[in-house]
Amino acid sequence: MSQSSPLKFVHQPHPAPTPPDKRAAILRDPGFGRAFTDHMVTIRYSEGRGWHDAKIGPREPIAMDPAAAVLHYSQEIFEGLKAYRTSNGAVMFRPVENARRFNRSAERLAMPDLPEEVFVEALDRLVSIDRDWIPEGDGSLYLRPFMFANEVFLGVKPSAEYLFIIIASPVGSYFKTKDSAVSVWVEQELTRAAPGGTGAAKCGGNYAASLMAQVDAYKHGCEQVVFLDAVERRWIEELGGMNIFFVFDDSSMQTPPLGGTILPGITRSSILTLAKDMKIAVREEPYSLDQWRADAKSGRIRETFACGTAAVLTPIGTVKSKDGDFVIGNGGSGAQTEKLKSTLIDIQRCRAKDTHGWVHKVY
Ligand SMILES: Cc1ncc(COP(=O)(O)O)c(C=O)c1O
Repeated sequence: MSQSSPLKFVHQPHPAPTPPDKRAAILRDPGFGRAFTDHMVTIRYSEGRGWHDAKIGPREPIAMDPAAAVLHYSQEIFEGLKAYRTSNGAVMFRPVENARRFNRSAERLAMPDLPEEVFVEALDRLVSIDRDWIPEGDGSLYLRPFMFANEVFLGVKPSAEYLFIIIASPVGSYFKTKDSAVSVWVEQELTRAAPGGTGAAKCGGNYAASLMAQVDAYKHGCEQVVFLDAVERRWIEELGGMNIFFVFDDSSMQTPPLGGTILPGITRSSILTLAKDMKIAVREEPYSLDQWRADAKSGRIRETFACGTAAVLTPIGTVKSKDGDFVIGNGGSGAQTEKLKSTLIDIQRCRAKDTHGWVHKVY
């Protein structure tokens, strides 16, 4: 399914880009995922022709036939990563990992793979043309590559046509809360992913299926939902859009193992590496809700944090469930979470040495 010849990108700069004063006003308080830059990438795929018509052009609505396959059977995948402003340009964090995960998702959803170098080149070109949209300070430019089935056909089968798009959104903080830690709702009825399903793929359908639990979380005054495994409803898996780590009183850490039902987070993998650098022991082993509650009560657990591109590292302070609530540590953030977070952010923003080759410069 892959195509090795490089694609030629056509550049069509926006004829009337956002005026600088309007852009500056947006960048002062961009929120999350509501403001967008002037350009987008589009690349088309059709069976027989492969990938073609690569273009960077003005960001604009896309015309779709009402019978486009994605609108009926959700054959869609996406990625999320960030570009950061540096003193002399812009960088992205581990974009090749996103390219690889994108292709693993594509394989699971019976979609064509996109050569990694095309994925990264498309990101480079978009960040380069819209670099003035990267906020200063703590903000960043969230990049959203996605691909969907575009064949006009109502039969249930892999589509013969796809559209790959990248859009970009200047963002500030993911969570609206001003508290130092978030509260989470543990969902004990609804599950996110079952063995053999699509939990390890980043496909839109997983997120649609998680929304009812997310609404329950909001109803209980929580920002996020924690999912348990689908077989025993006992083991902690991940949050709706983040992986999870537990920090113990001996400084060791634990995170649920990848096994097909959890999204292999790039932040998760980076934290595993940073923890190793810091000589912190980390176990990738199952951890149960009952144990979490008992360890929080006994003080054996000192901290818990969620991690992902959007929210980086976010401490979890309060855990709510139908069997009662419990508090982690003092209910706020903890020293180890903060240390890992600042270490990661310093690398992402080129303030610390990038010993693992994670930072990708955009020219
Ligand atoms: C379900 C889920 N888990 C974990 C993550 C964290 O992944 P990453 O660190 O690559 O952003 C995300 C975000 O992409 C996610 O949607």
